[in-house]
Amino acid sequence: MRISVIGCGYLGAVHAACMAKLGHEVVGIDVDKDKISELSSARAPFFEPGLEELLKEVQETGRLTFATDMAAATRSTVHFVCVGTPQKKGENGADLSFVDAAIASLVPHLAPGDLVVGKSTVPVGTASRLSEVLAEAQPEAHLVWNPEFLREGHAVSDTLNPDRFVYGVAGGSEDHPAVAILDDVYGTPLSSGTPRLVMDHPTAELVKTAANSFLATKISFINAMAELCEAAGADVTRLADAIGIDDRIGRKFLNAGIGFGGGCLPKDIRAFMARAGELGADQALTFLREVDAINMRRRTRVVELARELCQGSLLGKRISVLGAAFKPASDDVRDSPALSIAAQLQLQGAVVTVTDPKALSNAAKRFPELHYESETSKAVAKADALLLLTEWDEYRSLDPYELITSVSAPRILDGRNVLDAAKWRAAGWQYRGLGRP
Ligand code: UGA
Repeated sequence: MRISVIGCGYLGAVHAACMAKLGHEVVGIDVDKDKISELSSARAPFFEPGLEELLKEVQETGRLTFATDMAAATRSTVHFVCVGTPQKKGENGADLSFVDAAIASLVPHLAPGDLVVGKSTVPVGTASRLSEVLAEAQPEAHLVWNPEFLREGHAVSDTLNPDRFVYGVAGGSEDHPAVAILDDVYGTPLSSGTPRLVMDHPTAELVKTAANSFLATKISFINAMAELCEAAGADVTRLADAIGIDDRIGRKFLNAGIGFGGGCLPKDIRAFMARAGELGADQALTFLREVDAINMRRRTRVVELARELCQGSLLGKRISVLGAAFKPASDDVRDSPALSIAAQLQLQGAVVTVTDPKALSNAAKRFPELHYESETSKAVAKADALLLLTEWDEYRSLDPYELITSVSAPRILDGRNVLDAAKWRAAGWQYRGLGRP
């Protein structure tokens, strides 16, 4: 199958490489010349485990090429739209200008029978609007909404072996001609038993936003329990272990800490609320406002705890922040709670040093006023307090006995509840977790 992938960011670059891995002939298209030149040299423009190796492997086969000109899509039958849908500036809704621009520049290159497959996360109703654009330009092409559920840090394996495929087609019928074509595209994972659900456009769009809203709700639920545990002197990690054993609840996504961030969960719940309002169904999602509020409260709480740890004042205190990415195994700092906390501490008079194994250059672009240090040993030297805010393995496995000799005062705030509190205390540290006594 000849495939084009439009938009080569976190989603599209991985999707293009994985489609080539599945045996298809793929062209990745992006307006960003630098990104395309990196990808053409088999270099990943961002950190994603396994991606660079995969790019090298598939480019050697000749099945994966990249281009900046949309005309490169002409020879393809299936066109995946993978561009970003960020939050609008100053508003909760999603900015669809990249999707609209991608479709507008793609339609002149479509042939009868082609499939345009939207993977970007969009507000419900977008597919029906885009179907009209398509119907005018190339009435014999089909629009499918095929949401993507990959997690950064696991993007390659999530794309090659997803939990499920969702095909949103006009009318929602299995007999729609697009279904057989997409089945060919995903032949390998489908043959190994990956479930595939066919539904109409609005349901497929909603599946994605509903899934991310549920995940965000789960995290805010446990963070709300952390607030209660703090008030009652209980331990939220043991509470999560105990309720998570019930498989109706499940232990995954019940890690209390500094809350969720990244380029998806925060903006997706806000765009979902905005869209519900437009549809006159805002009441159905008012709970997401609380989910968002609980999440943002975590950041304030950590700043307060850091102040408490530093005996009531942050002024002039040297604080080392371990982690800048919004989660480990990623260099993505979009809406990273770790960085937002680091910036708050600095604003309140602390002298902050941030370290991270992969995200420092992205972090420095976002918050140039913070001090960055790539080596952990240098970052923690003479610190008045350490804050573990992104749970990279190398921070989880820090040795409290070794570390105590470098810092100025042995105080640690474990923003992800991943350290063994007893061990750190036994080594002489003042340890604070979130929602733990
Ligand atoms: C999320 C979804 O998990 C994917 O299924 C979805 O495809 C993706 O958004 C998207 O819409 O593109 P991702 O943003 O990569 O994926 O990150 P997650 O693994 O969901 O983590 C989100 C945030 O929640 C991180 O900041 C993480 O640290 C935090 N988190 C996660 C917690 O605070 N506690 C937990 O128990 C789990």
